[in-house]
Amino acid sequence: MTNKKEIKNICCIGAGYVGGPTMAVIADKCPHIQIDVVDLNNERISSWNNDDLNLLPIYEPGLAEIVGRCRGKNLHFSNLIEEKIGTADMVFISVNTPTKKKGIGAGKASDLKWVESCARQVAKFSKGYTIVVEKSTLPVRTAETIMSILYGSMSDKIHKNQTASFEVLSNPEFLAEGTAIKDLENPDRVLIGGANNDAMELLSEIYRNWVPKEKILKTNIWSSELAKLTANAFLAQRISSINSISALCEATGADIREVSRAIGSDTRIGSKFLDSGPGFGGSCFKKDILNLVYLAEYFGLPEVANFWEEVVNINHWHQHRISKLIVKKLLGTVVGKKICILGFAFKANTNDTRESSSITICKDLIDEGAILFIHDPQVSSAQIYSALEKKENYQIKEIKEQNDFLKYEGQWCFEENIYNCSEGADAIVVLTEWEEYSLIDWKDISKRMRKPSWVFDSRSIISQQEVIKANLNFWRIGDGTNI
Ligand code: UDX
Ligand code: UDX
Repeated sequence: MTNKKEIKNICCIGAGYVGGPTMAVIADKCPHIQIDVVDLNNERISSWNNDDLNLLPIYEPGLAEIVGRCRGKNLHFSNLIEEKIGTADMVFISVNTPTKKKGIGAGKASDLKWVESCARQVAKFSKGYTIVVEKSTLPVRTAETIMSILYGSMSDKIHKNQTASFEVLSNPEFLAEGTAIKDLENPDRVLIGGANNDAMELLSEIYRNWVPKEKILKTNIWSSELAKLTANAFLAQRISSINSISALCEATGADIREVSRAIGSDTRIGSKFLDSGPGFGGSCFKKDILNLVYLAEYFGLPEVANFWEEVVNINHWHQHRISKLIVKKLLGTVVGKKICILGFAFKANTNDTRESSSITICKDLIDEGAILFIHDPQVSSAQIYSALEKKENYQIKEIKEQNDFLKYEGQWCFEENIYNCSEGADAIVVLTEWEEYSLIDWKDISKRMRKPSWVFDSRSIISQQEVIKANLNFWRIGDGTNI
């Protein structure tokens, strides 16, 4: 039974790409609610508390302003996990749920150890009636696990003369990185899944501070969990579909931009998510689809599993397709050739590189023996180093001092300046759609590159005319018009 009339204190476990921005917006819209975001990672918490708002751990347009307004008032970041669970009326679980690397379901199923450990912490430290909200994307029926841990602990608490009761809700987040604040402030819908109307109403009341009532959808808990996985699978499926057609465009003389416009004008299809690119990246799409595949297999539905797995398979194929065609255009070999990579983040306006297509394409080119100079306006050299795993980051100075590039075959370095980056380069490859790449002075770049020089535009953001006028060879995704 619900014994609360309103939510005054929220605790969010997980100060990541989802937890941080989501709680910042709730704090901004609900000054009457105290919000504590807690995380095991002390370094991350220190960054959230950095006086310099440019040094928050996450780059998201609009986020720094909100944190500046609310932090220290009703938005707090700390590692006081036990204490803040203890004072919370509502606990959001927003921890990572990576794909399992070993054991049952390895490579597909989500690893729920963090979610389970959060549930155990809530079970242990909560006081009174607590609503637990699943924010992380989870396999359908995860709430059952959380409930069994929470309800199991109740008898223990009664035994110790402590009162505790719980309700579990599912409230998946649909924000996309780069537009997280906009998406949170003006969501298409807010989804709340649960079995207890009073608890659902308390969560709904929070959102009603800024979201119109008709946009708040209430469903049963399993529908909510499955809807989140399905939404990501459908979005990713659209990208794999358009990318597969881009290859056909290149072979037939069609142009993917024209095909996208033509099909997107059909209101039944709609125009969004039809931009062909280097393949989808990000922390969610691949993980969530593989999770869906695992669930379908688990429930004895191999045809359903195979259908969705192809969305991921095509994405891999498409990423490697781009690496291969770069090598082919560069006269069949990139050994010792300098290639500038513009963009390492998985999309523009974020510093997130998780599952970025740049990782796959850079690794392919490194394996082929190219020397990569990598530029990204928001991603640090250290991040690239860790994403490329054992591929060593050579100092630019060291490479520049050598005229003999061959010595550095299969190496990479970080470069902050696009124009310096192009000095002596054989090719420039645009992999992330950062606006500054669409403003490049190609005449200037052309003077610096080694001939024959190529520009590869996997995001359709470069002016074909400008590049060709600058006497550079040009390839762009899904463009078969020059065959
Ligand atoms: C995560 C999930 O990956 C995604 O499926 C879900 O939809 C939302 O949460 P994200 O916020 O991008 O997405 O993850 P991440 O940036 O890795 O942040 C998770 C944070 O949780 C990390 O800072 C980690 O230190 C923290 N954490 C993890 C805890 O505080 N406690 C734990 O027990 C486990
Ligand atoms: C996605 C979902 O959009 C969001 O609702 C969910 O909560 C988390 O996963 P995100 O991964 O942050 O969000 O970004 P999104 O904009 O969906 O882009 C994912 C990938 O698809 C990026 O690599 C992007 O470049 C690519 N993409 C997107 C395309 O290649 N073409 C498009 O038309 C759209």
